[in-house]
This record gives sequence, structure tokens and C-alpha cells, in this order.
Amino acid sequence: MPRILITSALPYINGIKHLGNLVGSMLPADVYARFQRARGNDVLFICATDEHGTPAELAARAAGQSVERYCEEQHEIQKRACAEFGLSFDHFGRTSRLPNHRLTQHFAAVLEKNGLIEERTTKQVYSVDDARFLPDRYVEGTCPNCAYEKARGDQCDNCGRLLDPTELKNPYSAISGSRRIELRDTAHLYLLQSKLQARIADWVAARPGWPQLTKSIAQKWLKEGLQDRSITRDLYWGIKVLKEGKPRPGFEDKVFYVWFDAPIGYIAATVEWAEKTGQGWERWWRADKGAADVRYVQFMGKDNVAFHTVSFPATLLGSEEPWKTVDTLKSLNWLTWYGGKFSTSQNRGVFMDQALELLPADYWRWALMANAPESDDASFTLEQFAGVVNKDLNDVLGNFVNRVTKFCASKFGEKVPEGGAYGAVEEKLIADLDAKIALYTAALEVMEFRKACAELRSIWVAGNEYLQIAAPWTAFKTDPARAAASVRAGLNLIALFAALSAPVIPYTAQKMFELLRLDAAQEARWPSSAKAALARLKPGHSFTATDPLFRKIEETEVAAWRERFGAA
Ligand code: 2FM
Ligand code: ZN
Repeated sequence: MPRILITSALPYINGIKHLGNLVGSMLPADVYARFQRARGNDVLFICATDEHGTPAELAARAAGQSVERYCEEQHEIQKRACAEFGLSFDHFGRTSRLPNHRLTQHFAAVLEKNGLIEERTTKQVYSVDDARFLPDRYVEGTCPNCAYEKARGDQCDNCGRLLDPTELKNPYSAISGSRRIELRDTAHLYLLQSKLQARIADWVAARPGWPQLTKSIAQKWLKEGLQDRSITRDLYWGIKVLKEGKPRPGFEDKVFYVWFDAPIGYIAATVEWAEKTGQGWERWWRADKGAADVRYVQFMGKDNVAFHTVSFPATLLGSEEPWKTVDTLKSLNWLTWYGGKFSTSQNRGVFMDQALELLPADYWRWALMANAPESDDASFTLEQFAGVVNKDLNDVLGNFVNRVTKFCASKFGEKVPEGGAYGAVEEKLIADLDAKIALYTAALEVMEFRKACAELRSIWVAGNEYLQIAAPWTAFKTDPARAAASVRAGLNLIALFAALSAPVIPYTAQKMFELLRLDAAQEARWPSSAKAALARLKPGHSFTATDPLFRKIEETEVAAWRERFGAA
């Protein structure tokens, strides 16, 4: 059985994620994991909260909590929201847990042993009034590129440029606002990525199957030439820097940089999973322990690609140990909120917890995946969301299920009708479905989710078209056996649609199986042929005609939500 390791980019701990974050990595990873499980593959799907770095410390400070307590609470909040969205992680860990400390310190030690880490003293931004260094977001000031006055030390939010804190003009402390800022000498560890240039270029070249967006970002960084980068920061919260197992002299008040330890968190979260389940983690991560035949697929937004195609591979390859590296890396563009940014502080956009207050997870899952920002950035609007839900879910899928079950219940009772054989119309339907299922399966296999959703929708449409042509309500008067056969086909189509739709809308699929009194766990296997699928439910099999699967979104609701969520 092929084994597939799937990781989603680890969401930052500071605050619940918005719909753009969700569709940027966790949701597509989940659809893919569910699909591969249904295909019969042995899947391990891992995620975690990314808990270190200045965002965590600053957010905890703003919340008036200790950073430990803040992270603990936020982890639980995110974990719950992910579960309610149906994200089927095998484990949702935390980068602040012990396995990540151990592994991060291990990697730093072997990289140093291999001559790839060097201590360098450089000038860093120091706040006299706060009596501390100000790494990354602890310092703000004017962007040297676009003159935006509130650029953060690590990046300008206005022009997007990555910055070094020392580059900011008119810097001030994000903690106290103090402008008594100096540049002072301090030592940090540098990972000598420049020494790994050829190694990483070869490794990338050996992965020609990467999607275009991934490939072009990796190539751009390689072309510019890999820079040595500091992997420690002057912070309290994070993973301690050691030397031969003891606190490293001069580094007592420093920790590893969040982007050094976060990707190691994929491995560490697998270790957590192994400890929880009593299974082995090395067979997923160590080529010498069976991971050589694992296929490793990563999901992330485009801003993360460089870290995953260059920096994390530098850690793994530089260790000279047989770690599993990524095989396929699916990267997504941005989902925008009415063409602009989602923002907690400016109350723009829908966040995961709010979404579920409005409507069940599947409404969002479908609309997001059908409109996934794959080839380009995509805009999310409530109007379009309502349109997609009302049309695809209500008019196409929901209506089909409703018509078939209600008609059958009224004419034949809540049982798959006896009599009548499949004929030419059903033959054509089967051929049509086989072709569409093949296209849908292929799109999911290569992770083209928009295309996959379009194929799935066209499968649902084929069901409606079949019903229009077979017209059991007319046939019933003159040829009841014919009507029975088409209703039987219709009920079987519901089971087929449930199995095919489950990766994207798992809660609805579950409901569809339940109304057919089928065991979802048993039925979730990926359909191999439409012919077999249409023969699944035998005459006499009972079902329950239920309420509509979905409800329509009213214009008045859209208007109220526009107001509430700051639609531009
Ligand atoms: O961009 C982000 O949201 C990061 N927290 C992603 C980290 S992915 C991995 F490396 F941990
Ligand atoms: Zn700027």
C-alpha cells in the first residue's frame, strides 16, 4: 500500500485563521488527504501550531497573558476550529513541545559539526529604554523601499518587501514606542546556506514534477544565490541555544529563529503523533528506516515556498543524515477579501470561528475549494459565495437528492424499487460518468482543485440531466417498471455522489450515506466503475427521505454579513 505523508503549513499561534489562510494550505491538504485515504493509501496527515517568534510574544503581551498561557489557549481554540471544519489531521501538534526542542537542537548541533554554522557578531537594533534588543517585529519604522511609516522590522506590510530591522528609517520600539534606538554588537548563529547552493540546486533539479508556481519561486532564489542567514534571535520565548548539551555561552538570552524551528515542527509533530498512538515515526521521516518509499506532499501559501524549497532543505540536507525531503509541493496564491487584505484589526473578512456561526463547514469548504487561488490570486466576496452555494449545492446536488428520494418515497415507498432493467439511457449515463470520474480523479491526483471541483459539479449535473431524460414521474403512468429502474439508478447515484464528494464536503457525504442507511466508513472507498456503483443498492434496500441537504442564502443575509464583516 503506497504511503503518503501530507503536511499543511503550520498556522501561526497568534489568533484564529481567516478563510484565506484556510484555503491557502490546511483545507486543500485535507481534501487531498481524504481523497488519498479513499484511494486506499496509507496516509499520515500532520499539522501543528507555529508558536515561536515575535508574533507570539507580541500577541501575548497585547492579551495581557504570559506567552505560555496565551499559546496554550490559542492552540486549543485553533484545534477546535480545525476539527469543526472537518480538517482530518492525524495529529495537530505544537512547535513549542519537547520533541521540537530536541530535534531543533539536534539539527543545529549536526549542522555545526558539518561546518555549516558559524557564530558572527553583527550590529542589531537595541532599545535603551526597554533595555533589550528588538528583533523582527519588535521594531517598527519607515520602509526604505516605499516610505510606509509603520513597516515592521521583518517585512513591510505596504510593499511586501522583506526587511532587516536595521534597514528601517526612524525606528521605534513596538513595545514602548521609544525612539531611543541604537545599533549594538551582538552574536548570532548563521546557517551557511551559501555553502549549500550546489547541493540544493541539484536537489531542486531532481524534482522536475513540481507545480509551476513552486518551481519558479525556488528558481528565483537559487538564481539570486543563497545567502547565509541568522538562525537565532534575542528573544525569551523559543528554543534554547545549546553547545554540547549545555546553555551556549553568550546565548543565554537568545533562542532559535522561528523559521528555523517551525518546519522541523513537521517532524516533531509526527513524533508527538507516534508517542500518542504508539506507532513509529521514523518510518515516515528516515530514509534508512523505511521512509524511502514514502511520498511526501506539502501544502502552503506562496509566501512560504522559499522556506520550504531552500531553507528547510538546507537544514535537512546539510545534516548529512537520511531525512525524508519533500517530493511534491503544492503552493497556493492569495485569497483576497473583496480584492483587499483580510485583517483582524481592521475587521475585514470572515475568520474560521465566525464562518461556522453563519453556516455549516461544507458550505465554506465547497465555495473555497471551487474558487481556490491556484493559477492566480482570487477574490472572495459574500455575493459570489451565496451564488455558488445556492447554485451548486442547492440547485444541483441538493435538488437531485431531494427529487429522487421524495419521488421514490411517494410512489414506491422508502425502499429501492423492484423491477425494470437498466437500458440504453443508463448505458449512456454510465459511460458519461466513467469519463467524468476519470477526469475528476486525475485532477485531484495532481492537486488541481478548481478543476476537480468543476468536474465534480459536472458529475452532479449529469445526474440531474439523467433524471430529466428518464423522467420517472412521466414514465410511472405508462411504464412503472421503467420508472422503477430510473429511480433505482437515481438512488445509487446518491451513493456514488456521496463517495465522490466526500473529500470536499465530508459532512454532506456522511448525511447522504446515512439517508441511504449505508455505513460511511465502509462506503468511502473510491468508486472504480459507474456500472458497479449503479448496482450497489439492491431492490428492497430501505432509506429515509430527509429534509433538503442545504439551505439557500438570502440576499438579506448577504447584506447583513457585508455590514458585519467589512465588505468593501
Ligand atoms: O506563514 C505562516 O503562517 C507560517 N506559520 C508557516 C510555517 S510553515 C512551517 F514551516 F512550519
Ligand atoms: Zn514598503
